[in-house]
Amino acid sequence: MTDPSTDQVLVIIPTYQERENLPRILDRLLTANPQVHVLVVDDGSPDGTGQVADDRAAADDRVHVLHRSGKQGLGAAYIAGFRWGLERGYDVLVEMDADGSHAPEQLPRLLARISPAGGADAVIGSRYVPGGRVVNWPRHRELLSRGGNVYSRLALGVKVNDITGGYRAYRSAVLRTLPLDEIESHGYCFQVDLSWRTIRAGFELAEVPITFTEREIGDSKMSGSIVREALWKVTLWGSRRRWEQLRAALRSRRS
Ligand code: GDD
Ligand code: MN
Repeated sequence: MTDPSTDQVLVIIPTYQERENLPRILDRLLTANPQVHVLVVDDGSPDGTGQVADDRAAADDRVHVLHRSGKQGLGAAYIAGFRWGLERGYDVLVEMDADGSHAPEQLPRLLARISPAGGADAVIGSRYVPGGRVVNWPRHRELLSRGGNVYSRLALGVKVNDITGGYRAYRSAVLRTLPLDEIESHGYCFQVDLSWRTIRAGFELAEVPITFTEREIGDSKMSGSIVREALWKVTLWGSRRRWEQLRAALRSRRS
């Protein structure tokens, strides 16, 4: 019998310059979770990551590849991946980094939390709930991440501890409901954007603890422009929310 918690699961792995990491993460993922399917979304990596992905896809029916022309950002890569998965009828769509930071061995924890028995509509593998950990991150990077989370929590008024976290699982119903066409976040604030929209649409977004381990091979694509985009967008969404609250309060006083 098939295991309902891993049936019809598509794991989306965005890649840019991950030639050495990709075979390792695919081996780990498919060993730990043999029933899942994988979609690699490569943005035309000059190092040939896309070719590595194609070779794996040719050898393994569970592996698929989406090639995009040039580096267009994490958000755009995931949206293309979600569309691909929704068109093909997957029940659960998972986000996972290619660099080994998200342990495929912990995927069953995420899936258990959104299984029919587990309840939630979406789940974040969280570094900042009890039991969650970060291994080998430089101090400044952890401060930036923790600071970004505190700021987002305050600005948006949500109780998510790791709203920037990139290890997630969504029920397809959530992604079918959200207006994917309208999402313009390019960089890592895409994660905040999607969380915020999921919660505002009335879905339950849960967190389960994970261990995030910094990559050993290759470089992070984090940049100043990614940080700036996140800062101004979260500030904008937060101000919009306060404005809506204010308008609602004024309206109820008048009536
Ligand atoms: N296709 C595509 N296009 N993939 C990309 C792009 C892009 O423009 N930018 C990054 N990626 C891929 C990387 O190849 C990797 O597989 C994954 O996205 C994460 O990128 P990293 O550069 O390793 O991210 P990080 O370790 O700095 O950031 C992690 O933490 C962030 C903050 O918590 C990630 O988990 C982010 O998702 C998370 O928001
Ligand atoms: Mn990384």
